[in-house]
Amino acid sequence: MRTLHAIGACGAVAALSLTSGAFAQADSIDHAKADAEFAKFRAEMEASNPAELNEMKGEGLWNAKRGPKNASLAETCDLGLGIGKVEGAYVASPRYYPDADKVMDMERRIVWCMVEKQGFKFEDIARKPFQGPNDANAPEITDLVTFVAGQSRNMKFAVPMKEPKVKEAWAIGKEIASFRAGPFDFSCNTCHGTDGKRIRMQNLPNLARPEGAIRGVLGWPGYRMTGGVMLTSQWRMNDCFRQQRFPEPKYVSDTITYLLTYMTGTANGQLYKGPGIKR
Ligand code: HEC
Repeated sequence: MRTLHAIGACGAVAALSLTSGAFAQADSIDHAKADAEFAKFRAEMEASNPAELNEMKGEGLWNAKRGPKNASLAETCDLGLGIGKVEGAYVASPRYYPDADKVMDMERRIVWCMVEKQGFKFEDIARKPFQGPNDANAPEITDLVTFVAGQSRNMKFAVPMKEPKVKEAWAIGKEIASFRAGPFDFSCNTCHGTDGKRIRMQNLPNLARPEGAIRGVLGWPGYRMTGGVMLTSQWRMNDCFRQQRFPEPKYVSDTITYLLTYMTGTANGQLYKGPGIKR
């Protein structure tokens, strides 16, 4: 009950600012200045980005023979550009994988390879897929995603939108983003569907436009300063479902792939700068 109360109270605040028509608050905070200060801080942090450690660990995991089948991902896993090829794979996903007959985002694809090629059990990976504030290390899957993402640094997003299954996934993602339900009747677009919305200090991207969609995918996977943890886009999506007071989707579900296809596809052509820093 206590949790329910807490959620209720928090929701009421969010609902209030939503119905007031704008997220801008009548307070004395200079948001532009705060954003500029944070940008400066982020630039300093990025000079010694902690994500590099996860990238290095991920590279080791990618190349190692592991799992019940004693196989390496480098020798067995096709991220879409050929077996073992990681360079440019992150910016070209989500994509359709004929061997699985599914559109998959990168995290989901790596999990698929770990299960199919290395023989790991899905339930074991899904039991704790994200780093928590008290965990010293990120899960292996996060390190792997961070490594693969780093191999697309400074490349342009190139989700294969001409592929019919990808196009379909994009369209479903777009619908999900506007689907309103739950105790507050929120959809993603309630918070992310127009320009210039804020919640407290956070400036929310409008995911429906290329400039907003790129903000939605840029810097993920990211090292989150709050808690000092490395997190992936899958985590970000799950956490927004929580903010929306929806039940959290299952790990690497279709729903998340569709949303990521919608956002990444909309961001196509723009530059990915690699794993980043989040506040
Ligand atoms: C109740 C409002 C709310 C709802 C509903 C919501 N979000 Fe969010 N979203 C936020 C907040 C707050 C942040 C954090 C912004 C930050 O940390 O700068 C965020 C962050 C994000 C980000 C990362 C942006 C960045 O700068 O890295 C993405 C992507 C995102 N949301 C997508 C979604 C999707 C998809 C949905 C629907 C499933 C959704 N959100 C629903 C409030 C919401």
